[in-house]
Amino acid sequence: MARRIVIASGKGGVGKTTVCVALGKALAGMQKKVLLLDFDNLRSIDLMLGAAQDVVFDWGDAATGRCSAKDAVLEAGGVSFMACPPDYDGITKDDVKRLIHELEAAYDFLLFDAPAGIGTGLSLACAAAQKGLVVATPDLVCVRAACRAAQQMDSLGVQNCRLVINRAVYRDIRRKKLLNIDDVIDETGVQLIAIIPEDKQLRHAGTSGKLFAPRNLSYEPLRRLAQRIQGKQVSLWFA
Ligand SMILES: Nc1ncnc2c1ncn2[C@@H]1O[C@H](COP(=O)(O)OP(=O)(O)OP(=O)(O)O)[C@@H](O)[C@H]1O
Ligand SMILES: [Mg+2]
Repeated sequence: MARRIVIASGKGGVGKTTVCVALGKALAGMQKKVLLLDFDNLRSIDLMLGAAQDVVFDWGDAATGRCSAKDAVLEAGGVSFMACPPDYDGITKDDVKRLIHELEAAYDFLLFDAPAGIGTGLSLACAAAQKGLVVATPDLVCVRAACRAAQQMDSLGVQNCRLVINRAVYRDIRRKKLLNIDDVIDETGVQLIAIIPEDKQLRHAGTSGKLFAPRNLSYEPLRRLAQRIQGKQVSLWFA
């Protein structure tokens, strides 16, 4: 039965989709069957996986009976994914729960990429999730948004959240240009599970396709995140 994890942040552009896709690839590299569901109706997962042109159906079609669940699942880069519907009109939490229930036996992990904000997309993404990852970059605005997102997820029934600090630059943290790690943890009130460094390979991943590659600075932290998600006792990695 799949473990179901929602990835959210409150603030936009902090790396939710990047973490979602890279984590999916890391888990797939550990022989796990992974399905990514895009809950952001601006759609990014298909683009990040270089498969935008292959999308015919989305999970909204499957959830509302316009196609089978299988019809809406695509394969790209070692993972499976379902694209987001263009809007959430007429899709209920029960529709999402039913769809996830149908899918969960076939996968080890279902990763739900939430949109920015704390509205309908997040609430649908949380409907069938057991656990949450809150992504925050080490700056005040993002940390406050992450705290709000974690509270919202808690009220939506996802109590088991962990913090991913993304785009950490240690030199800037030392020089107090970014918040230090302890402050980010304290201000969000969420337990830390990973610190992903600023990595230009991730920035270029859209064109290079190298979202999770051994030469990337972020490779080992992401690999360890994938292990820690599985409950393995491995330490954090500071790149
Ligand atoms: N660790 C990192 N190092 C460098 N660039 C990063 C890192 N993580 C994400 N990025 C870059 O930040 C930008 C935003 O990332 P991404 O689209 O994953 O954010 P998001 O939170 O999903 O955004 P949205 O809220 O719009 O869905 C992208 O250009 C991505 O390549
Ligand atoms: Mg995104």
